[in-house]
Order: sequence, then C-alpha cells, then structure tokens
Amino acid sequence: MADKQAKLELGGKTFEYSVLEGSTGPDVIDIRKLYAQTGAFTFDPGFTSTASCESALTYIDGDEGVLLHRGYPIGQLAEHSSFMEVSYLLLNGELPSKDELDDFSYTITRHTMLHEQLMTFYRGFRRDAHPMAIMCGVVGALSAFYHDSTDISDPTHRTISSHRLIAKMPTIAAMAYKYSVGQPFVYPDNSLSYTGNFLRMTFGVPAEPYVVNPVVERALDRIFILHADHEQNASTSTVRLAGSSGANPFACIAAGIACLWGPAHGGANEAALNMLREIGTPDKIPHYIERAKDKNDPFRLMGFGHRVYKNYDPRATVMQQTVREVFDSLKVTDPLFETALRLEEIALSDPYFIEKKLFPNVDFYSGIILSAIGFPTTMFTALFALARTVGWVAQWNEMISDPGQKIGRPRQLYTGPTERDYIPLTQR
Ligand code: SDX
Repeated sequence: MADKQAKLELGGKTFEYSVLEGSTGPDVIDIRKLYAQTGAFTFDPGFTSTASCESALTYIDGDEGVLLHRGYPIGQLAEHSSFMEVSYLLLNGELPSKDELDDFSYTITRHTMLHEQLMTFYRGFRRDAHPMAIMCGVVGALSAFYHDSTDISDPTHRTISSHRLIAKMPTIAAMAYKYSVGQPFVYPDNSLSYTGNFLRMTFGVPAEPYVVNPVVERALDRIFILHADHEQNASTSTVRLAGSSGANPFACIAAGIACLWGPAHGGANEAALNMLREIGTPDKIPHYIERAKDKNDPFRLMGFGHRVYKNYDPRATVMQQTVREVFDSLKVTDPLFETALRLEEIALSDPYFIEKKLFPNVDFYSGIILSAIGFPTTMFTALFALARTVGWVAQWNEMISDPGQKIGRPRQLYTGPTERDYIPLTQR
C-alpha cells in the first residue's frame, strides 16, 4: 500500500512527511527530519500530541476505555492472571507456560533479600520520613551495590538488574513501612508468593507467626496487576529519558519513583483518600464539586480525570469491584466508600465533568481498599511504585534494546532576551 504522506506548507515551501501506522491506534507523522528541512521545531508542551517512541508493551484507547498489555485486556488479566504472570508477559511478550512461570517466580523469589548494608540507609531517615522519599533514596543506592550488573549493553546484565529491581521493591517498600512504625524489619520468606511475602514483610512481626489472608493476598495481587504498566505516562517517560543517557537501571527507576510521587500522577491515590476524608460525608460533596469547577480554586477532584482516558478508566472499574469483594469477604465497610460512590455519581451527572470527560481513574478507589488492608495513606504511592517497577523495567529494556535508540534531547521555543552586552556594576 502506498505510503501515507502528510504535507506541511511553511515559508512558501511544501514539505512531505511519512505517516506511520501501528498495529492499532492513531497513526504518527514521522517528523524526525522536520527541523533539518524546515528550520522549525514542533511545539507540544506536555506532549499531548507527541509519540515519543515505538512500543509493543501496552496499548490504551482513551476514548473507548481500553487497556491492553501485550494485547491482553486488563479486565481479563485482573480476573485470570497473577502479578508474576503479568510481569513475565510484559518482560517477554507472551504468556508463560507453567514451567516458564515457575522458573520466573523462583528467580524473582530468590532476589528478594537486600544487601545487609542497605539496612543502614534507613537509619539515616527520620522515622516520619515519607516512604516515597525513602524509596527514591534506597532504590538509587542500589546502583552502589550491584556493579556486577550495570553494563546496560549486556543483555544478561539487563536481565539480572530487571529481576533484582522487581524482586527487591516489595522488600524496600515493606522496610520503609516498618521503619516508619518503629518495628523491626521482617526478612523475605521464600515459601510465600510474591504478594504474600510482601504482606508478611509489612504486617508480620518476629514475635509471632503471620498467616497471609488469601482474600487480601488475591486483592493486592490484582491491584499490583492494575498498576503494572501504562504506556508512556510521566514516570515511564522519565525512566526512558534517564535511560537514554546510558544511566544504570537502578538510577533510572529511582528517577521514575521521584516522578510518580507527584499528586498529579501516582501521588493521587494518597491525595484522593485524603480528599475523601476531608469531604467526610455525602452531604458535603456539592461544596467540593463546586470548588473543583472553580477556576480560581486550585482544588481538583483527586482520582478524577486523565490525560488519555476520556472514558471510564478500566482499572477503576476493576478496583471498585475489588473493594466490594474484599469488604464482603472480610465483613468490613468504610463510610468513605459510600462517599466515593456518591461523589462519582454526582460528578458523572454534572455537565462540567461530562463536558471535560472527567471520569474516576485508577487512583480513585485504590486508597479505600489499601486503607482497609491496613496501609497508611503515605504507603499508597510506594505500593504504586512497587507494582509499576515491572512496567518501568520492561519499557527501559525495550528502549535500550532498540537499535535506533538515541539520547532524548527536546528543544524549545525561546522567549527570553536576545543577545546583549554585559553592563558593569558601576553602570547599573
Ligand atoms: C495517573 O498518564 C498516565 O497513564 C497516568 C496513570 C498511570 O497509570 O501511569 O494513569 C496514573 O497519574 C492517573 C491520574 C492521577 N491524577 C489525578 O487523579 C489528579 C487529578 N487529575 C488531574 O490533575 C488531571 O486530570 C490530570 C493531571 C490527571 C490530567 O490532566 P491533563 O490531561 O493535563 O488535563 P488538564 O489538566 O488540562 O484538564 C483538562 C480540563 C482542565 O480544565 P480547563 O483548563 O480545560 O478549563 O479538565 C479540568 C482542568 O481544570 N480537570 C479537572 C480535573 N482534572 C482535569 N477539574 C477538576 N478535577 C479534576 N480532577
């Protein structure tokens, strides 16, 4: 089929650019030669219309509310798969056989321990340090301990670093929680599942046995699946940009953690539950809806809206179902769940939210279930980082192994002063 072309008229000249088609989703206009040919840059702050890379990992259709990992819909993965299996799928491209899954899980399980020296890093933090501050520091510090696997040009080094990061994030996150509550660190137990091991390291104590609740284990494993990867979001783009300079994977993931922390991104789960607590009861909802619509008020409905989804975030659907299942099974409830359901109902019937296509996103309900499991709100984004590590690592591997990969170096529209001479101090 004849190549599709896009024409650009600029300065009385016509320029043509190839239009590239993916396996699905929007076409892209290949403008790699545009500056050399036209002397002009494109201008797209926030990258609302920019494809930064080619990827085969995750596909999102924001209008239809579709999320696929290597082609498999998130709803099917959440219902039938496990976080270890989805991790294997993201890293390798296909669902594993039983032997492949067992081998992968065995490998990950045996990388969950931290170098004993890393424990001392925690002691340098105040007890009330935010877990994301600790995660940034400790994950970045991993690059000081694993010199045997930081040659990013060596595929075996990339594989071992990837496994170490996926395996150690639960240990690092659990230790951040233990440090904040003044309890001793609990070492990994290789007899447990990835998620069960994390629950025991977080909530277990040396003074007595810890029995993993299978309902909680399954719910948290599903929550990890929902957070595993999400195309070229802000933190993934941060990891790719850091990796494009050749930085080691531990430093790149630390950069991703830093970006995820922001309340407009992964920090929204913590902010959403704090917002629900501030609203309190459903009768207060109209006041907050009006604040969210007021351009002069910086307040936004946390857990609502999305750069890509202009329909219901499919992850929010699964998250809401999971809240119901866990509450029913554990015979617990939380009045904030009723407030959240009512807030969603009111917002989705309000012309402002309808016109701007603002729907609940993955962060809206997650805090309710994480709180019910026993996590403090300060741990919510650390759990998001724990789960998103496999997505960051898979995206980083995809970028590093791309033969056409170059260092990311955007340009700008300069609006500062043009050249002028220095004025001596005595003349100012
Ligand atoms: C995540 O990118 C990803 O994939 C991220 C993520 C992932 O898995 O990696 O999905 C995870 O980060 C989910 C999003 C979590 N963030 C929040 O819940 C914070 C609240 N949401 C907003 O901050 C906002 O919706 C963003 C940041 C998520 C998206 O912002 P955009 O795409 O830049 O859109 P925008 O800010 O330009 O908003 C468009 C309009 C604006 O009004 P106008 O200027 O056009 O008049 O909608 C309004 C905004 O004021 N708006 C909201 C709103 N979100 C957007 N108004 C009230 N409440 C909100 N939550």
